[in-house]
Formats: sequence, structure tokens, C-alpha cells
Amino acid sequence: MEGMNLFAKLEYVNPVGSIKDRAAYWILKRAAERGEICDETTVIESSSGNFAAALATFTRLVGLRFIPVIDPNISGTYESFLRRICSTVVKVEERDDTGGFLKTRLQMVQQLCATIPNAYWTNQYENRDAMEAHYELTASEICAGFDSLDYAFIGVGTAGTIAGVSRRLKEHYPNIRIIAVDTEGSVIFGGAPRKRHIPGVGSSIVPPLLSHARIDDVVLIPERETAKACRELLTTHGLFVGGSSGTSFAALKRYAPKMTGSRHPTVLFLCPDRGTPYLDTVFDDTWVTRLE
Ligand SMILES: Cc1ncc(COP(=O)(O)O)c(C=O)c1O
Repeated sequence: MEGMNLFAKLEYVNPVGSIKDRAAYWILKRAAERGEICDETTVIESSSGNFAAALATFTRLVGLRFIPVIDPNISGTYESFLRRICSTVVKVEERDDTGGFLKTRLQMVQQLCATIPNAYWTNQYENRDAMEAHYELTASEICAGFDSLDYAFIGVGTAGTIAGVSRRLKEHYPNIRIIAVDTEGSVIFGGAPRKRHIPGVGSSIVPPLLSHARIDDVVLIPERETAKACRELLTTHGLFVGGSSGTSFAALKRYAPKMTGSRHPTVLFLCPDRGTPYLDTVFDDTWVTRLE
């Protein structure tokens, strides 16, 4: 990108393939340390894909049962993955009053927790250990990698990433500006709810962890622009990354004229996962033309 020193943090190199590995690992670790989970525990979580994949892998590693609650927006790749390694997968089909699936998924989680003995809901929307994971792990790596940093663009779903990363980066780089990135149709920053199709960024609720984030500005991106940005990252930067990475790239391109101060600011954006699960959506021309 002209006019800035641009860096992408590629979180798809995590063991299961996304930034959610960090939250899943840290939440399970802390719950075990506090004695909240034991060998008989069944872990339950509502996830659009990445978090469920990470939990499925790590619970399996330590011999715990895991039931993911998913919805039709999940990519086929993740659904197949979960069905192969979890004995039970619950898929909700009904949209909630905002047009999304989140509220229906959360109702299902409550129902399962009330009926399954020793159920443990990792509750990624409110669990402060998710935020701590990004404060301790994700942000530490960023701080170790940059002497100075002017802007960080971070997509928001549960807000765990932005809450943890923004707090640590503000401590380390007092003048950094944290730009939150969201999708049009998401209600996180007060927009009107609308049907969304790309998982990861955006939500039909305001996530409680958002109140811990230190945000200077917000950019909302329409889904078509996300698709365009994902293709641009692939063809002009050689980065094959997922929807939320494209959303952040689109946001920093829009925001570039507003970047003041240093003539060539150092800018970082996070790439939470790889493009493979999005081949039939974001990277498919026919699918993109059907977007509103
Ligand atoms: C691909 C992807 N990008 C971004 C996010 C948003 O991260 P957070 O939930 O920490 O706000 C998620 C969360 O599920 C995700 O799966």
C-alpha cells in the first residue's frame, strides 16, 4: 500500500488455523486451573466455525466431550470437520428477530446446559479469559515485533480480540490508534440489523467484552467490499485469507486518507483465518453477485 508501512498478522498459522485457537486454549487452561472443568465435563459452545474447531481439537486432545452449536452460515469445510471429530453437533435453523442466528444458538446452549450433566459453557461472548488470551498472547507477539506502531485495524465479533489487543497495545504504544472494523448489518456499533452472510466479523448482539476495548474509531464495510478486498489481497499481495481479513483490509484502505501524523504510518491489520473455508462464498463470483 502506498503511503504507509503495512503489516498483516497472519493468525492462520495457529495450530487449528485461526485466531480463535488462542481464546480456546486460554479459556480451557484457565478453567482447568480454577477447577471448573474435570474429566467428566462436556464443553458446550455456540460458534460460527473457528472457535468450535479450536475447542473441538483441544478438548479432544485432553479427552473431554464437546458439543458445538452451529448455524447455516458455517462454512461446509468447518461443518465437515466438526462432524468428523465431535460425536454430537447441534445445528439451529431458525433466524432470530435480528435476522441472524446468534440468539437462537445461545438459546440452544442454555437448553443443552440445563439438560446435560457436568456441562461447561465456555461462553466466548462474556468470558474475560478470551480477552486475557489476546492480551497475553496475541498482543505480546505484536509488541515484540514492532518498535513503534501507529494504527491497528481489528475486526470485531465477540470483541475478545479487540478488547485484549487494544488494551495491551495502548499500554505499549501510547499514541497508537485502534480502529474497530465491523460489517454493515451488524448491530455492534449501533447500526440497524440486516442479514449478513460472512462469518467472523459482525454480530446481532452488542458483545459484553466490547466495553473493555479501547477504540478510537470504527469503520463499517459492506459484504461486497469484503469480497473485493479478499480477492485483492490474494492477487496483489499473495495472501489467501478469510472474510474478516478482507474486511479489515477494506477498512484500512477506506481509512487511509484520514491517517494523519507520521508521513508513512506503520499500520497493522489482523488476518484471523485462511481463505480455504470461503472458497464457495467470498471467492465465488456467483455467490458475491447475489449479495444485497
Ligand atoms: C474469522 C474470524 N475473524 C474475526 C473474528 C472476530 O474475533 P473476536 O470474536 O475476538 O471479536 C472471528 C471470531 O469468531 C473469526 O472467526
